[in-house]
Amino acid sequence: MAEKTHDNAVAIVTGGARGIGLEICRELLSAGMTVVAVDLRDDLLAGLPDALGSPGERLATRAMDVTDSEGFTALIDEVAEQHGRLDVLVNNAGITRDGLLMRMEDEDWEMVLKVNLTSAFIGIRAASRHMMRQRGGSIINMASFSGLEGNRGQANYSASKAGLIGLTKTTAKEFAGKNVRCNAVAPGFIQTEMTDALPQQAKDVAQGLIPMKRFGEPSDVARAVAFLASDASGYMTGQVLSVDGGMHM
Ligand code: NAI
Repeated sequence: MAEKTHDNAVAIVTGGARGIGLEICRELLSAGMTVVAVDLRDDLLAGLPDALGSPGERLATRAMDVTDSEGFTALIDEVAEQHGRLDVLVNNAGITRDGLLMRMEDEDWEMVLKVNLTSAFIGIRAASRHMMRQRGGSIINMASFSGLEGNRGQANYSASKAGLIGLTKTTAKEFAGKNVRCNAVAPGFIQTEMTDALPQQAKDVAQGLIPMKRFGEPSDVARAVAFLASDASGYMTGQVLSVDGGMHM
């Protein structure tokens, strides 16, 4: 279990309604944090308290498109004001719109960059103001193996995830002096609805590339995020932690 960053630590998790994000909410709750789960899907958010064992007031849910700059900024300010602090921001919301580069539509490029990368910039800009003021905080960006190594059929996705790594390092450098840390997690193939959507042949090929020969579980990623959110990683910033069964070495 991760240590708390603060007795009443408050965390915001984007894309928190399912998959990896849901497990991140679970880990941060079990570390004693108050968690605000943000997601597009209000239908899934409605079931989140049940899915997370009814944590009561320590869990709040907010339906929100994190590409809405004004709305997402206002939400972060509201959470920080309501609780008097903001300790952790996990930029986890992400999408794929895969296709070979030569046939990729502008819209698929722009949408993926907006959801995966621009939303993280919006979140960091807003959250860092509160974290700087309180002289502490931890920001975690959900990158990917694809962002480290590229991936056929994922020009948009891998560019967005590589962009997140650059954003992570710049954020770390700009805020290190104020004890605000920023790290990234780079999962490989994790068993979620995102990877369920892959054709079986692609899954078989993927499995062959993983030294550990199996897909990871969302909880494998969530535990790495909880570590980076906690004081246990208090001297780490600007790092990219791979959780991928040994794919990226
Ligand atoms: P998922 O598709 O199961 O969950 C993503 C969540 O983000 C969904 O609940 C969705 O509603 C939400 N979301 C999407 N767009 C949003 C928006 N504009 N505003 C608010 N919420 C939005 O995906 P999964 O697999 O849990 O992935 C989570 C993160 O991990 C993503 O950033 C993904 O790129 C990354 N990742 C996943 C890997 C995998 O193998 N599953 C591998 C590497 C990275």
